[in-house]
Amino acid sequence: MNYKKSFEINEKLHALVPGGSHTYSKGEDQFPYNSPRIMSHAKGAYTWDVDGNKFIDWAMGNRVFILGHAFDEVDNAVIDTIKRGTNYTRPGILEYETADYLINEHFDKFDMIKFGKNGSDVTTAAIKLARAYTGRKYVLVCGTHPFFSIHDWFIGSTDMNSGTLDTERQYTIKFFYNDRESVEKAFDQYKDQIAAIILEPVKNDSPYLDAQESDLHLETLIQKNNSSENNFLKYLREKADKEGSVLIFDEMISGMRFDTKGAHSLYGVYPDLSTFGKSIANGYSCSFLVGKKEIMELGGLKHKKERVFLLSQTHGSETTGFAATLATFKASKKYNVSNHVWNLGRKLKSDFNTLVNNEKVADYFKIIGFDANPQILCTKRTGEFWPELHTFFHDIVINEGVFIPWITITLSHTDEHLHITMDAIRKAIKTLKPIIENNEVEKLLVGDPVKPVFRKYN
Ligand SMILES: Cc1ncc(COP(=O)(O)O)c(C=O)c1O
Repeated sequence: MNYKKSFEINEKLHALVPGGSHTYSKGEDQFPYNSPRIMSHAKGAYTWDVDGNKFIDWAMGNRVFILGHAFDEVDNAVIDTIKRGTNYTRPGILEYETADYLINEHFDKFDMIKFGKNGSDVTTAAIKLARAYTGRKYVLVCGTHPFFSIHDWFIGSTDMNSGTLDTERQYTIKFFYNDRESVEKAFDQYKDQIAAIILEPVKNDSPYLDAQESDLHLETLIQKNNSSENNFLKYLREKADKEGSVLIFDEMISGMRFDTKGAHSLYGVYPDLSTFGKSIANGYSCSFLVGKKEIMELGGLKHKKERVFLLSQTHGSETTGFAATLATFKASKKYNVSNHVWNLGRKLKSDFNTLVNNEKVADYFKIIGFDANPQILCTKRTGEFWPELHTFFHDIVINEGVFIPWITITLSHTDEHLHITMDAIRKAIKTLKPIIENNEVEKLLVGDPVKPVFRKYN
């Protein structure tokens, strides 16, 4: 493929914008040298770059779509709204209608909702609320999960913490998924001081301690949900209740994808607060915090306790986000989109596994995680992530017109896209197999390998 324009504009963009991107995970250190740098437009499951190259897009921005790019039902709702003005001097009617739909018709167990524009708005709001509600400072953050917020309570705890205060990181304590000991240890060490536990309810691992591969399929998950005593989520629920801490599930990725009511609803374990964002507005900017009234109302005007400054944003009530959210939830229900995501993901995992087993490269190319949220991993034989192989693999599939740095299945992805994608993956694996065998991955890779986002130096 020819990336001439992409390269030219990218150089100019870097001179103007630090990082050359507004999300670190879209930066040029996250992709192969031979790949598009600047995109032009997108529709359905496809995206085009400024040189006119066309790609099947499995990444979908930063997982901000559930229906596909430029989905008409959502876009039309937004266009209608724009014509009626985008921000008013008092709350707009759509603000009420979206809140009413989500709390009274959609979710079963949440009493109140507060909207934001980004995921970080609402995870940070949840932490602040939990601290105010409990009068405690420490937060237990799941260290198995990579990201919760751009704000310093979280960024301070990463390797890229320059500019944050020691006092911010001091109160953020890590525990690990399915590791009860790490939770117990933190509660022992900070007795009566832990305000909140925050985690994604599920990411790549099942919360059952006796987990089987089959737990990553929807049917098993539903069958098993309440019967397993080994459920880590249930353990956290009981622990938070016993210790008087607030349990927060971050459903930014799992929400919509596993179930529009959130992945936690499939396990029958309900948090005190939960955060949603990314795909809820199918590409438009909206996020929300939902939860129990006794906690949420601290941010309101109808109580006599100390006031909590819980999200107050100039653009928080912009009407496009509400119109898009309402239309996305309604369309997701109408088309049973979660089911489509689970089914297509299952096929993708099955086709991938058949291919790598037939080619005898399963030690190097793996597909992990739930059917609703699979992830391709390129590893060394020892199982550790192999950045050079990952970069080389993506160089080849991108050249075949497939963008799959992470996998975000939407309603617009079909069996046909899967078929084309598997052809590209087959080609990459057949090309890389002799290169791996001859120990030439590092030597033949063009450009630098990808690097972790959270690192101290460039
Ligand atoms: C699990 C999770 N929580 C929170 C966030 C922050 O969301 P945003 O980038 O919209 O601020 C992200 C973003 O990647 C995320 O993956």
